[in-house]
Amino acid sequence: MDQGRLIVSEEEIRELVVRMSGEINRYYGSREGEPPVLVLGILNSVFVFLADLVRKLTFDMEIEFIRASSYGNAFDSSGNVRILYEPTVSLEGRDVLIVDDLIDTGHTLDTLSRYCREKGARSIASAVLLDKFERREVDFKPEFVGRTIENVFVGGYGLDGGGHFRQCPAVYSFSKKSPTL
Ligand code: IMP
Ligand code: MG
Repeated sequence: MDQGRLIVSEEEIRELVVRMSGEINRYYGSREGEPPVLVLGILNSVFVFLADLVRKLTFDMEIEFIRASSYGNAFDSSGNVRILYEPTVSLEGRDVLIVDDLIDTGHTLDTLSRYCREKGARSIASAVLLDKFERREVDFKPEFVGRTIENVFVGGYGLDGGGHFRQCPAVYSFSKKSPTL
């Protein structure tokens, strides 16, 4: 696998965030008389994308986090999603927008959507910046997708490889064996 190849530049990320925020703003509309949308970011990797996205959303919202881990090791999803931290507000009757940076096998979003339904959410939609569609193991389609990417392991813009590279402003591919950016 190649190392340090640019997959999504800072400029492209900006464009994707603007396009997605327009779609999400149209989807939720003005929400007169409705409770605030509950935006639920999936820790840890979502923190950069969520910060950029919510600053372009125009409807009333509350922002909460959930922490999930599906990795058997640092690079490959185990398919067994564990919830490590739960939102501190009730999801009962809420319109929930789940946000993640990347959908890969789909287990994380599939499991967390079911979690929100079980907790009584009134509606559930999900938004992801990147879609590694070739890796999908469950039939899950987020309502809002920035763009698809090829099947390479990526780091940067919040995404980590073995705990590193989250702080990089763009998204790069790198080798699983010797990550170098
Ligand atoms: P899924 O459950 O397999 O769809 O994996 C989704 C989660 O795994 C996301 O929250 C990502 O943060 C993480 N993930 C998936 N692929 C990558 C990658 O290539 N680099 C870093 N993190 C990834
Ligand atoms: Mg993640």
